[in-house]
Parts: sequence; C-alpha cells; structure tokens
Amino acid sequence: MNKPNFKDEMNRRKCKIEYKELNEEIKPALHNKKFFLRTYGCQMNVHDSEQIRYYLEALGMQEVDTLEDSDVVILNTCAVRENAKEKVFGFLGRAKHLKKNKPDLIICICGCLMQEPNEVDEIEKNHKYIDIVLGTHNINEIPNMILDRTLKQNIEVLSNSDVVYENVSYKRDSNITAWVNITYGCNNFCTYCIVPYTRGRERSRKKDCVLKEVQALKDAGYKEITLLGQNVNSYGRDFEDEKYYFANLLEDVAKIGIDRVRFVTSNPWNFTDELIDVIAKYDNVMPYIHLPIQSGSNSILKKMNRGYTVEEYKELFDKIKERVPGVSITTDIIVGFPNETDEDFEATMNIVDYCKYDGAYTFIYSKRVGTPAAKMDDSISQEVKEQRLYKLNELVNKYSLESNKRYVGKEVPVLLMGVSEKDPTKAYGYTDTMKLVNVENGINEIGNIVNVRIEEAKSFSLDGKMVK
Ligand code: 5AD
Ligand code: SF4
Repeated sequence: MNKPNFKDEMNRRKCKIEYKELNEEIKPALHNKKFFLRTYGCQMNVHDSEQIRYYLEALGMQEVDTLEDSDVVILNTCAVRENAKEKVFGFLGRAKHLKKNKPDLIICICGCLMQEPNEVDEIEKNHKYIDIVLGTHNINEIPNMILDRTLKQNIEVLSNSDVVYENVSYKRDSNITAWVNITYGCNNFCTYCIVPYTRGRERSRKKDCVLKEVQALKDAGYKEITLLGQNVNSYGRDFEDEKYYFANLLEDVAKIGIDRVRFVTSNPWNFTDELIDVIAKYDNVMPYIHLPIQSGSNSILKKMNRGYTVEEYKELFDKIKERVPGVSITTDIIVGFPNETDEDFEATMNIVDYCKYDGAYTFIYSKRVGTPAAKMDDSISQEVKEQRLYKLNELVNKYSLESNKRYVGKEVPVLLMGVSEKDPTKAYGYTDTMKLVNVENGINEIGNIVNVRIEEAKSFSLDGKMVK
C-alpha cells in the first residue's frame, strides 16, 4: 500500500496502456480458462469491468456465469455504502468454500473497496485465500497479476493517480449503448462520500481522444453513448492551456451525430447556462438529467459540503425545466445524515413536493470511515432513519407514478435494448427521457429506435406496443 508510484510515472509518459504489449508466449497459460466476473456499484465500475473483460478475453479466457464453473473469480467492488461491502464479503465466503475443493482457483478482488487501507489490511490478515488485490488506479495490471500469480498474496494498490488513461480497450456489455469516460475522480469532497478517496483527484480525458472514441462507436453502429464522470460538469477544469468545458465537449459530441447522447452525473453546483443551451439546442442530446439534491435542508447541505443552497437548486431546476421542454429530472437523496432533525427531513419532503421528480434513488446515510461525516455526532436512531426512508419512498414513488401516467396514450420513440427478463415475449428499452418501457411485439426490432404507444404506467416502468 502507498508505495512509490513508479508504474504511474511510466504510464504518464506513454499516456497509453496497450494490452498488446503483454508477452505473447505466456498467453497459452490461461488459454480456455474460465473466469467469473461480478461487478458491484455504479456505472463507473460497470465500465471498468468492461475493460477487465477485454483483458481476460484477450488472454484467451472465457467468461462463465456461475462461480462454480470458474478458474478465476474477479470481484469489482463498491465502497459507497456499508451494505455494498457486506455483499462482497458474503460472496467471498462462497468463493473461499469453493477453493477448498479447487485449490488452483484464483480469487481476485479489485475496485473502490480496495482503495481503503483498513480493508486491505483486513484482507492481508484474515483473508489469505484471496490471491490478488488491486485498486481503481491500476486495473490495467490485472492480466499481468493473474499471469504472475505466485502462492503469495499479491497486493498492488496505488493510493492516488494523476494518469489519464487513453486508448483503453473494452469488451462492452452492449452493442447498442456504450459508456464513454470523460473524467476520472472527484474533487468535491462531499463530507459523506468516499469516492474522492477511492477514485482520486478529478482529471479530464483529452477532448480529441473522447471525440475519436465517440466517432468510432458511431461507425460501429452504436445508437447511444453516455458520457461518464463522477461530476461531468467539471470536465476541462483541470486543463492548463485550454478553455474547453463540458458544454463545449457535449456540443462537439452531439455534432458527431450519434442518435442519442446522455451524460451522468451532473452536480448542481457547476451546471452552467451554456450547458443548458447545448442540451436545449441538440435533438440528439437526450432531455434527461440526473441532478442529485441529497437533502432539502440548507443546514444539512452545508454540513454535506454540497456547494449550493435549496434556493439555488430550485432556481437551476426551474431554469432547466423552462429551457428544455419535456425534460425529465431524477435525483439522489440521503436520509439520516448525522443529526438530521425532523425539520431537516420535512425540508427534504418539501423539495420532493416542489420538484415532483420523475424518479429518485434514496439512501439511508452510511458511515464511511475516513470521510469527515464519519466523525460527526449522530444521535438519530436507525429506526427513525428507516421510518424517514419509508416515508420518502412513498412520496417519491407517488411522483414517479404520476410522471409515468402522463405518457399513457402517447406515442414515443424508444430505443430497444434487449429481451425483458420478466417477460421474454417482450423487448425492453428506454424513452429519450430515460423511462423504462416493456414493449410487446418489439423483439425483432432490438437495437432500433421505434415508436411505441404507451398503454399502461407503473411506478418504475411503462408498458406499450410498437406502432408500425
Ligand atoms: N451514505 C449513503 N448514501 C451515499 N451516497 C454516497 N455516499 C453515501 C453514503 N455515505 C449516495 C449519494 C450519491 C449516490 C451515488 O450515493 O446520494 O449521489
Ligand atoms: Fe461523492 Fe460528492 Fe464527488 Fe458525487 S460529487 S462523487 S457525492 S464527493
């Protein structure tokens, strides 16, 4: 842990990670071995796993979807809330058990949780059956670490990195929609959040590399891309010689002409007017914004270090609604932040009443060791926090159902993504406003944008029929 960062120095000079440089002779060692990859957490992790999958398949390995069939297990972990960690260790128990009968099984754990020194110490002391540990800044080392496996536990975690990875290859989950990283890390330091510690400082990818990647995705037939960053609005703020910000990048990406362009996540504190103008101007920039509020109380927002007041948030919210007709806006909300009073919680309910969100992800505050909020006094019981979450969810679900009902009887374009898991006779897809739609008679049109007449609205999805 925290050792000098020689590999990063090397990569900075090359600014490029090329898997091809791996020695071809050692490749056969893993040929036809099976790997099982499980991903926890956010889109950033999902996208990192696409990179891991590329590396392993390039080594000649094949992915399997049951742990028991695998020779290599990789867990890409999340640290954002305690329950994410519990899930990882629960799953590790199964892998440990399997290893008793299959001693050659390689267990590898990577991702955000591994950026926490106390977790790595714990693995070193008490989880010796784990063979490989690596962090978020060096997932490109996974193939080498698997190939180099010795009987000793191999831990390589870099505490921080200023490397911007370019020319990375991915085995993407979908050939319809693709993630495109534009920034890595976060500088916002919201007091509850572990991400600035697990993902490091904010750094932007070069604009030419992003535009080249989007063009290549369009040429490969992708219908949709989502620009990805912990806070996309901060794109370009770290460029020294150029004034080129997120609004500029989004406009240039839109001009490439891919059918649908999305982005996540936008922090309200630096959502500019120029950005709203670009969203409004380009038909292929989707009218959907995820705009986390976190709390409706100014005193809690201040303690969270969010950088805006409720009044400023409302002003931004109203401006977006006015300038981008039909826009849908979703949010994230945390209840039970240390010492959140009844009044603070009521203020959160009030902002939900004001914004009538199209959807919201709601969480009970989870204490993350190493963050400033972890040191704050908290006298609110778990029971009260759970009651608040329940009440909030009722309200949030009411508004999301209301918003969905407005679609009934309308005909809307839907990008069909695949076969519905719940009902294999239907296809599922998304409206431009990111509403999930289950579509009868859509299976033959997967991969296309089709017109769908919406027939029924539920809280979290719509049902409809394709219009020929
Ligand atoms: N406890 C609860 N929720 C959290 N989030 C981030 N950190 C925490 C935490 N410590 C939520 C925020 C963020 C979303 C991705 O996860 O709402 O926007
Ligand atoms: Fe965490 Fe705040 Fe950064 Fe989002 S903006 S990743 S909540 S620190």
